[in-house]
Amino acid sequence: MTTRRTMLGALVGAALLPTALRPLPAFAAGAPEPLKDIARRKGMRFGTAIGSGPTEFGNPAYRALVERECGLIVATNEMKWQAIEPSKGQLQFKAADTLLAWANEHGIAMRGHNLFWQPEKWLPHWVVQEKFGANVRQGVERLMREHVRAECEHFGKAIASWDVMNEAVDPADGKLRQNPLTRPFGTPVEQIDLAFRLAKEYAPHAQLVYNDYMRGDEGSAKHRAGVLQLLADLKKRGTPVDALGLQSHIGSWDESQDRGKADLLEWRKFLDEVSGMGYDLLITELDVNDRRLPADIAKRDAGVAAACRDYLDVCLSFPRLRDVLVWGMSDDISWLQTWDEAPRKDGLPMRPCPYDAKLQAKPMRQAIADAINAAPARA
Ligand code: XIL
Repeated sequence: MTTRRTMLGALVGAALLPTALRPLPAFAAGAPEPLKDIARRKGMRFGTAIGSGPTEFGNPAYRALVERECGLIVATNEMKWQAIEPSKGQLQFKAADTLLAWANEHGIAMRGHNLFWQPEKWLPHWVVQEKFGANVRQGVERLMREHVRAECEHFGKAIASWDVMNEAVDPADGKLRQNPLTRPFGTPVEQIDLAFRLAKEYAPHAQLVYNDYMRGDEGSAKHRAGVLQLLADLKKRGTPVDALGLQSHIGSWDESQDRGKADLLEWRKFLDEVSGMGYDLLITELDVNDRRLPADIAKRDAGVAAACRDYLDVCLSFPRLRDVLVWGMSDDISWLQTWDEAPRKDGLPMRPCPYDAKLQAKPMRQAIADAINAAPARA
């Protein structure tokens, strides 16, 4: 399991740039059309998550790659509650502000990720230990309001899309997760509803997103069902949710058989139901876990690209889906390298991203370009 320490490690300032990380030469003439331009022609946007540490924002070559390819970014960790308020009342916006200023300078939009992240381990320590006084529910409501107000007022209109609620459904049984912020409510859906209402109050201009990692495979059936139930319940309550964020950590995660086309069919059915309820869609964290693909790099990269293409073809056939973000541009900085839930059995580093460690484009980059090129143009 990735620890808080790892995450905070990733927040270490970009200032300490190792001299080995040199900018790449300017992109040569005849280079492929940037993904952001292909997307723009279709009324879409392409982007990535980026961290403020030395291997991403602090690496001029990586930064240049993002500037060239992306019309949209999201901070990997820097806008999470734990990063913004590591101890009670001590607000730290510096890392997020640095990313935002750079994005603005280059005409790149930025999403907000995230206001609430439901698994308890991702809440700041001090929130978990908080006592909340005699009326716990009131105390929780006050804290939630303070948090949403602090983030939304600080970033204002610069953030036009927020992941308000991240991972509220337990994939094991499809039920809503409980944590110290949900327990004082009759049901967690009341706390989720409040989160969105607060976001609406403090960021009325923004697209408000429920973000989760359900997939199309059988192992994810309960997760999909739980998310559909939650979205239906929120609709009934009139909760201001605009869109479902599809994290899209696709590929092989568990030992269940990959059923290829059948899984894609399930995925389409799921997206049909979500858009049928009136929700927009966006791909927020795309990468491809290659743990069941062969070690051979050419074969592996081809498998990753094929899975990516098939998945995008289904998703992009929904005109409500306009934004595609990957969770990192290059393999070496991917969170999957250190995430111990599903490592490769041969211990080799994963190749889940559109670029390799040398920032050379991989077949996955072509798959993304082809899928967007093939997608119907958005009105
Ligand atoms: C991950 C980051 O990439 C890591 O650096 C951090 O240690 C843990 O979080 N779903 C999400 C993202 O919504 O916020 C997660 O990001 C990846 C899974």
